[in-house]
Amino acid sequence: MTRKILILNGPNLNLLGTREPEVYGTATLDDIVAGLVITAGERAELRHVQSNNEGELIEAIHQARDTSDGIVFNPGAFTHTSIALRDAVSGVEIPVVETHLSNVHAREEFRHTSYLTAVCVGVVAGFGANSYTLALEALLAHLDG
Ligand code: DQA
Repeated sequence: MTRKILILNGPNLNLLGTREPEVYGTATLDDIVAGLVITAGERAELRHVQSNNEGELIEAIHQARDTSDGIVFNPGAFTHTSIALRDAVSGVEIPVVETHLSNVHAREEFRHTSYLTAVCVGVVAGFGANSYTLALEALLAHLDG
């Protein structure tokens, strides 16, 4: 069965490739999404949305309820601030995998708190661009039961 998966990226992730490469690596978001399409193969059809705007991310999550089987979600800095995104995730009842390039727990203390984790099926963090691949594999395995 071909799954429909939303790849959702929050603020500043459009800058990947040039943004703090020592923390986030040199792959661009386009490189990451192209790699995910190869990983998904026939198993999943991917849609990608990136926004720097909290409201647009909320709308994308609401829309996914009717259009996607699950979400690979890197909320960027909103991870650590947004109760509204948490409520959107818990409101739509489709599985979401929280995804981070960096190991947020090995960084500044303000990054150790996530408002999202408790309402996600799991978290992948710290593996650079590969975090997305691992998150997609985990989400597909979760959907396969
Ligand atoms: C991030 C980690 C966040 O703390 C940070 O604000 C980001 C990126 C990551 O992918 O490692 O923008 O989500």
